[in-house]
Amino acid sequence: MNAAQAGILAPIPPHARYLTFALKSGARPLAQLRSLQAAADGKACVVGIGALLAFALQKEIGGLRPFPHYQSEGVQVPSTPAALWCWLRGEDRGEILLRARALEKMLAPAFEVADSIDAFKYGRGLDLTGYEDGTENPKGRKAVEAAIVSDKRAGFGGASFVAVQRWIHDLDRFAAMPQKSQDNAIGRRKKDNKELASAPETAHVKRTAQESFSPEAFVWRRSMPWADATQAGLVFVAFGRSLDAFDAQLKRMAGAEDGKVDALFAFTRPVTGAYYWCPPVRKGRIDLRAIGV
Ligand code: HEM
Repeated sequence: MNAAQAGILAPIPPHARYLTFALKSGARPLAQLRSLQAAADGKACVVGIGALLAFALQKEIGGLRPFPHYQSEGVQVPSTPAALWCWLRGEDRGEILLRARALEKMLAPAFEVADSIDAFKYGRGLDLTGYEDGTENPKGRKAVEAAIVSDKRAGFGGASFVAVQRWIHDLDRFAAMPQKSQDNAIGRRKKDNKELASAPETAHVKRTAQESFSPEAFVWRRSMPWADATQAGLVFVAFGRSLDAFDAQLKRMAGAEDGKVDALFAFTRPVTGAYYWCPPVRKGRIDLRAIGV
Protein backbone atom coordinates (compact mmCIF):
# COMPACT_ATOMS: atom_id res chain seq x y z
CA MET A 1 0.00 0.00 0.00
CA ASN A 2 2.07 2.88 -1.38
CA ALA A 3 -0.10 5.63 0.04
CA ALA A 4 0.12 4.53 3.69
CA GLN A 5 2.47 6.26 6.14
CA ALA A 6 5.44 3.87 5.96
CA GLY A 7 6.10 4.00 9.72
CA ILE A 8 2.77 2.28 10.38
CA LEU A 9 3.72 -1.02 8.74
CA ALA A 10 7.49 -0.86 9.39
CA PRO A 11 9.18 -2.81 12.21
CA ILE A 12 9.16 -1.26 15.67
CA PRO A 13 12.12 1.15 15.92
CA PRO A 14 14.72 1.05 18.72
CA HIS A 15 13.53 4.42 20.05
CA ALA A 16 10.50 6.67 19.74
CA ARG A 17 8.77 9.68 21.21
CA TYR A 18 5.00 10.03 21.26
CA LEU A 19 3.91 13.66 21.20
CA THR A 20 0.31 14.61 21.83
CA PHE A 21 -0.83 18.17 21.13
CA ALA A 22 -3.84 20.21 22.19
CA LEU A 23 -5.15 23.04 20.07
CA LYS A 24 -4.58 26.42 21.71
CA SER A 25 -7.83 28.20 22.37
CA GLY A 26 -8.89 30.38 19.48
CA ALA A 27 -5.95 29.21 17.34
CA ARG A 28 -6.27 28.96 13.57
CA PRO A 29 -3.94 26.05 12.79
CA LEU A 30 -3.83 26.11 8.97
CA ALA A 31 -0.32 27.57 8.61
CA GLN A 32 1.13 25.13 11.14
CA LEU A 33 -0.58 22.20 9.43
CA ARG A 34 0.93 23.27 6.12
CA SER A 35 4.37 23.28 7.76
CA LEU A 36 3.66 19.87 9.29
CA GLN A 37 2.64 18.56 5.89
CA ALA A 38 5.93 19.76 4.40
CA ALA A 39 7.95 18.25 7.26
CA ALA A 40 6.32 14.88 8.04
CA ASP A 41 7.21 11.93 5.83
CA GLY A 42 5.01 9.33 7.56
CA LYS A 43 8.03 7.15 8.27
CA ALA A 44 10.31 8.91 10.77
CA CYS A 45 7.22 10.83 11.87
CA VAL A 46 3.80 9.17 11.80
CA VAL A 47 0.98 11.70 12.17
CA GLY A 48 -2.55 11.30 13.53
CA ILE A 49 -5.33 13.88 13.45
CA GLY A 50 -7.86 13.96 16.30
CA ALA A 51 -11.58 14.61 15.85
CA LEU A 52 -11.10 17.85 17.82
CA LEU A 53 -8.77 19.18 15.12
CA ALA A 54 -10.98 18.01 12.24
CA PHE A 55 -13.91 19.70 13.97
CA ALA A 56 -11.94 22.95 14.37
CA LEU A 57 -11.32 22.86 10.62
CA GLN A 58 -15.02 22.15 10.03
CA LYS A 59 -14.18 18.81 8.42
CA GLU A 60 -15.53 15.42 9.28
CA ILE A 61 -13.57 12.21 8.88
CA GLY A 62 -16.07 9.35 8.57
CA GLY A 63 -15.36 6.70 11.21
CA LEU A 64 -13.37 8.97 13.54
CA ARG A 65 -15.22 9.08 16.85
CA PRO A 66 -14.67 9.75 20.55
CA PHE A 67 -12.64 7.21 22.51
CA PRO A 68 -14.87 5.13 24.80
CA HIS A 69 -14.78 5.48 28.56
CA TYR A 70 -15.35 2.55 30.96
CA GLN A 71 -15.67 2.55 34.70
CA SER A 72 -16.58 -0.37 36.92
CA GLU A 73 -15.06 -2.25 39.83
CA GLY A 74 -11.33 -2.61 39.17
CA VAL A 75 -11.60 -0.96 35.75
CA GLN A 76 -10.94 2.64 34.84
CA VAL A 77 -10.53 3.32 31.14
CA PRO A 78 -10.27 7.07 30.55
CA SER A 79 -10.99 8.93 27.35
CA THR A 80 -8.56 11.82 26.85
CA PRO A 81 -9.12 13.28 23.37
CA ALA A 82 -6.42 15.44 21.77
CA ALA A 83 -5.98 17.38 18.54
CA LEU A 84 -2.80 15.94 17.07
CA TRP A 85 -0.51 12.95 17.63
CA CYS A 86 3.02 12.46 16.31
CA TRP A 87 4.97 9.24 16.66
CA LEU A 88 8.64 10.15 16.15
CA ARG A 89 10.58 6.99 15.27
CA GLY A 90 14.33 6.48 15.05
CA GLU A 91 17.56 4.80 16.05
CA ASP A 92 18.93 7.50 18.28
CA ARG A 93 17.34 9.21 21.30
CA GLY A 94 19.34 12.39 20.83
CA GLU A 95 18.27 12.78 17.24
CA ILE A 96 14.62 12.15 18.19
CA LEU A 97 14.78 14.70 21.00
CA LEU A 98 16.10 17.38 18.66
CA ARG A 99 13.46 16.56 16.07
CA ALA A 100 10.77 16.77 18.76
CA ARG A 101 12.01 20.20 19.81
CA ALA A 102 11.92 21.47 16.23
CA LEU A 103 8.42 20.09 15.73
CA GLU A 104 7.12 21.63 18.96
CA LYS A 105 8.55 25.04 17.96
CA MET A 106 7.08 24.80 14.49
CA LEU A 107 3.60 23.97 15.83
CA ALA A 108 3.74 26.30 18.85
CA PRO A 109 1.66 29.18 17.43
CA ALA A 110 -1.39 26.89 17.31
CA PHE A 111 -0.62 23.77 19.35
CA GLU A 112 0.67 23.02 22.84
CA VAL A 113 2.20 19.77 24.03
CA ALA A 114 -0.29 17.80 26.12
CA ASP A 115 1.86 14.71 26.61
CA SER A 116 5.34 13.57 25.61
CA ILE A 117 6.47 9.98 26.17
CA ASP A 118 9.83 8.45 25.37
CA ALA A 119 9.47 4.82 24.38
CA PHE A 120 11.87 2.08 23.38
CA LYS A 121 12.06 -1.43 22.03
CA TYR A 122 12.81 -3.98 24.75
CA GLY A 123 14.67 -7.11 23.64
CA ARG A 124 13.05 -8.84 20.68
CA GLY A 125 9.83 -6.86 21.22
CA LEU A 126 8.84 -7.57 24.81
CA ASP A 127 6.52 -5.81 27.18
CA LEU A 128 8.22 -4.84 30.48
CA THR A 129 6.48 -7.82 32.11
CA GLY A 130 8.78 -9.97 29.98
CA TYR A 131 6.07 -11.26 27.62
CA GLU A 132 6.49 -10.99 23.87
CA ASP A 133 4.07 -8.41 22.45
CA GLY A 134 2.80 -8.55 18.87
CA THR A 135 3.03 -12.31 18.24
CA GLU A 136 -0.49 -12.58 16.84
CA ASN A 137 -0.29 -9.51 14.64
CA PRO A 138 -1.55 -10.29 11.13
CA LYS A 139 1.25 -10.88 8.62
CA GLY A 140 1.96 -9.53 5.11
CA ARG A 141 -1.12 -8.71 3.05
CA LYS A 142 -3.34 -9.41 6.06
CA ALA A 143 -1.55 -6.70 8.03
CA VAL A 144 -2.24 -4.20 5.25
CA GLU A 145 -5.89 -5.29 5.10
CA ALA A 146 -6.26 -4.88 8.86
CA ALA A 147 -4.49 -1.54 9.16
CA ILE A 148 -4.99 0.46 5.99
CA VAL A 149 -8.12 2.11 4.57
CA SER A 150 -9.05 1.17 1.05
CA ASP A 151 -10.89 4.12 -0.49
CA LYS A 152 -10.80 5.51 -4.03
CA ARG A 153 -11.24 9.12 -2.93
CA ALA A 154 -8.06 11.19 -3.13
CA GLY A 155 -6.73 11.95 0.34
CA PHE A 156 -8.60 9.05 1.96
CA GLY A 157 -7.21 5.79 0.47
CA GLY A 158 -4.07 4.67 2.30
CA ALA A 159 -5.16 6.32 5.55
CA SER A 160 -5.45 4.46 8.85
CA PHE A 161 -7.08 4.91 12.24
CA VAL A 162 -5.17 4.48 15.47
CA ALA A 163 -6.05 3.89 19.13
CA VAL A 164 -3.42 5.09 21.60
CA GLN A 165 -3.33 4.51 25.37
CA ARG A 166 -0.59 5.09 27.91
CA TRP A 167 -0.67 2.23 30.43
CA ILE A 168 1.17 2.39 33.76
CA HIS A 169 2.33 -0.98 35.08
CA ASP A 170 2.58 -1.87 38.75
CA LEU A 171 5.73 -3.93 38.23
CA ASP A 172 6.09 -4.71 41.96
CA ARG A 173 2.63 -6.19 42.02
CA PHE A 174 3.32 -8.16 38.85
CA ALA A 175 6.62 -9.47 40.21
CA ALA A 176 4.81 -10.65 43.36
CA MET A 177 2.46 -12.85 41.31
CA PRO A 178 3.52 -16.52 41.07
CA GLN A 179 4.76 -17.51 37.59
CA LYS A 180 1.58 -19.51 36.91
CA SER A 181 -0.67 -16.54 37.75
CA GLN A 182 1.41 -14.31 35.47
CA ASP A 183 1.06 -16.82 32.62
CA ASN A 184 -2.67 -17.15 33.29
CA ALA A 185 -3.10 -13.37 33.24
CA ILE A 186 -1.57 -13.13 29.78
CA GLY A 187 -2.66 -16.55 28.51
CA ARG A 188 0.83 -17.42 27.29
CA ARG A 189 3.82 -19.07 28.93
CA LYS A 190 6.58 -16.51 29.53
CA LYS A 191 9.45 -18.94 29.06
CA ASP A 192 8.56 -20.00 25.48
CA ASN A 193 5.60 -17.72 24.49
CA LYS A 194 3.40 -20.80 23.98
CA GLU A 195 -0.34 -20.11 24.15
CA LEU A 196 -2.01 -21.84 27.11
CA ALA A 197 -5.04 -23.80 25.98
CA SER A 198 -6.21 -24.04 29.60
CA ALA A 199 -5.92 -20.32 30.39
CA PRO A 200 -8.93 -18.78 32.19
CA GLU A 201 -11.57 -16.74 30.34
CA THR A 202 -10.07 -13.59 31.84
CA ALA A 203 -6.62 -14.21 30.30
CA HIS A 204 -5.67 -11.27 28.09
CA VAL A 205 -5.27 -13.30 24.89
CA LYS A 206 -8.61 -15.04 25.50
CA ARG A 207 -10.34 -11.68 25.93
CA THR A 208 -8.82 -10.28 22.77
CA ALA A 209 -8.59 -13.41 20.53
CA GLN A 210 -9.11 -11.71 17.19
CA GLU A 211 -10.88 -14.63 15.46
CA SER A 212 -13.38 -14.95 18.32
CA PHE A 213 -15.22 -11.73 17.43
CA SER A 214 -18.02 -11.45 14.95
CA PRO A 215 -16.96 -10.02 12.58
CA GLU A 216 -13.34 -11.01 13.24
CA ALA A 217 -11.48 -8.13 14.90
CA PHE A 218 -7.95 -7.87 13.52
CA VAL A 219 -5.76 -4.93 14.50
CA TRP A 220 -2.15 -4.02 13.78
CA ARG A 221 -0.42 -3.46 17.12
CA ARG A 222 2.72 -1.32 17.32
CA SER A 223 2.99 -0.80 21.09
CA MET A 224 6.25 0.17 22.78
CA PRO A 225 7.41 0.11 26.41
CA TRP A 226 8.03 3.46 28.11
CA ALA A 227 9.71 4.44 31.36
CA ASP A 228 10.77 7.52 33.29
CA ALA A 229 12.58 7.73 36.61
CA THR A 230 9.62 6.54 38.69
CA GLN A 231 7.08 4.87 36.44
CA ALA A 232 6.97 2.45 33.53
CA GLY A 233 4.47 0.75 31.26
CA LEU A 234 3.33 0.37 27.70
CA VAL A 235 2.20 2.84 25.08
CA PHE A 236 -0.48 0.68 23.50
CA VAL A 237 -0.89 1.55 19.82
CA ALA A 238 -3.28 -0.28 17.50
CA PHE A 239 -3.85 0.73 13.88
CA GLY A 240 -6.97 -0.31 11.98
CA ARG A 241 -8.77 0.32 8.71
CA SER A 242 -11.55 1.34 11.09
CA LEU A 243 -11.87 1.64 14.86
CA ASP A 244 -14.43 -1.16 15.11
CA ALA A 245 -12.01 -4.02 15.90
CA PHE A 246 -10.25 -2.12 18.71
CA ASP A 247 -13.62 -0.95 20.09
CA ALA A 248 -14.86 -4.55 20.29
CA GLN A 249 -11.66 -5.77 22.01
CA LEU A 250 -11.57 -2.96 24.56
CA LYS A 251 -15.24 -3.45 25.41
CA ARG A 252 -14.61 -7.12 26.16
CA MET A 253 -11.41 -6.37 28.12
CA ALA A 254 -13.31 -3.90 30.31
CA GLY A 255 -15.94 -6.54 31.10
CA ALA A 256 -18.69 -4.50 29.41
CA GLU A 257 -19.71 -7.49 27.29
CA ASP A 258 -19.97 -10.35 29.79
CA GLY A 259 -18.83 -8.94 33.14
CA LYS A 260 -15.43 -10.68 32.92
CA VAL A 261 -12.61 -8.17 33.28
CA ASP A 262 -9.26 -8.75 31.54
CA ALA A 263 -6.66 -10.01 34.04
CA LEU A 264 -4.29 -7.24 32.85
CA PHE A 265 -6.19 -4.78 35.04
CA ALA A 266 -4.79 -6.50 38.13
CA PHE A 267 -1.35 -4.99 37.48
CA THR A 268 -1.67 -2.23 34.91
CA ARG A 269 -4.05 0.64 34.10
CA PRO A 270 -4.59 3.04 31.22
CA VAL A 271 -4.22 6.73 32.05
CA THR A 272 -4.91 8.12 28.57
CA GLY A 273 -6.96 7.00 25.60
CA ALA A 274 -7.51 8.67 22.24
CA TYR A 275 -8.35 7.94 18.63
CA TYR A 276 -6.72 9.57 15.61
CA TRP A 277 -7.03 9.41 11.85
CA CYS A 278 -3.65 8.91 10.15
CA PRO A 279 -3.67 10.57 6.74
CA PRO A 280 -2.11 8.90 3.68
CA VAL A 281 1.13 10.11 2.07
CA ARG A 282 1.58 11.74 -1.30
CA LYS A 283 4.95 12.53 -2.93
CA GLY A 284 6.75 11.52 0.25
CA ARG A 285 4.79 13.82 2.58
CA ILE A 286 1.58 13.39 4.56
CA ASP A 287 -1.51 14.23 2.54
CA LEU A 288 -3.91 16.49 4.43
CA ARG A 289 -6.35 17.19 1.60
CA ALA A 290 -9.14 15.40 3.48
CA ILE A 291 -9.04 18.09 6.16
CA GLY A 292 -8.75 20.92 3.67
CA VAL A 293 -5.00 21.64 4.01
C1 HEM B 1 -0.68 -2.79 29.15
C2 HEM B 1 -1.47 -3.20 28.21
C3 HEM B 1 -1.25 -4.42 27.39
C4 HEM B 1 -0.27 -5.37 27.44
C5 HEM B 1 0.91 -5.44 28.40
C6 HEM B 1 -0.55 -6.33 26.40
C7 HEM B 1 0.23 -7.45 26.14
C8 HEM B 1 -0.11 -8.45 25.25
C9 HEM B 1 0.59 -9.68 25.09
C10 HEM B 1 1.83 -10.09 25.87
C11 HEM B 1 -0.03 -10.40 24.13
C12 HEM B 1 0.33 -11.81 23.62
C13 HEM B 1 1.21 -11.85 22.41
C14 HEM B 1 0.64 -11.22 21.18
O1 HEM B 1 -0.11 -11.83 20.41
O2 HEM B 1 0.95 -10.06 20.99
C15 HEM B 1 -1.14 -9.60 23.66
C16 HEM B 1 -2.03 -9.97 22.68
C17 HEM B 1 -3.03 -9.18 22.21
N1 HEM B 1 -3.43 -7.97 22.72
FE1 HEM B 1 -2.60 -6.99 24.26
N2 HEM B 1 -1.69 -5.95 25.74
C18 HEM B 1 -2.14 -4.79 26.30
C19 HEM B 1 -3.27 -4.08 25.95
C20 HEM B 1 -4.11 -4.41 24.93
C21 HEM B 1 -5.27 -3.65 24.52
C22 HEM B 1 -5.76 -2.36 25.19
C23 HEM B 1 -5.81 -4.30 23.45
C24 HEM B 1 -7.02 -3.94 22.62
C25 HEM B 1 -8.08 -3.30 23.11
C26 HEM B 1 -4.98 -5.46 23.17
C27 HEM B 1 -5.17 -6.33 22.14
C28 HEM B 1 -4.46 -7.50 21.94
C29 HEM B 1 -4.72 -8.44 20.86
C30 HEM B 1 -5.73 -8.27 19.73
C31 HEM B 1 -3.84 -9.51 21.04
C32 HEM B 1 -3.74 -10.77 20.18
C33 HEM B 1 -4.87 -11.72 20.56
C34 HEM B 1 -4.93 -12.93 19.65
O3 HEM B 1 -5.60 -12.84 18.60
O4 HEM B 1 -4.29 -13.93 20.00
N3 HEM B 1 -3.96 -5.50 24.09
N4 HEM B 1 -1.18 -8.42 24.36
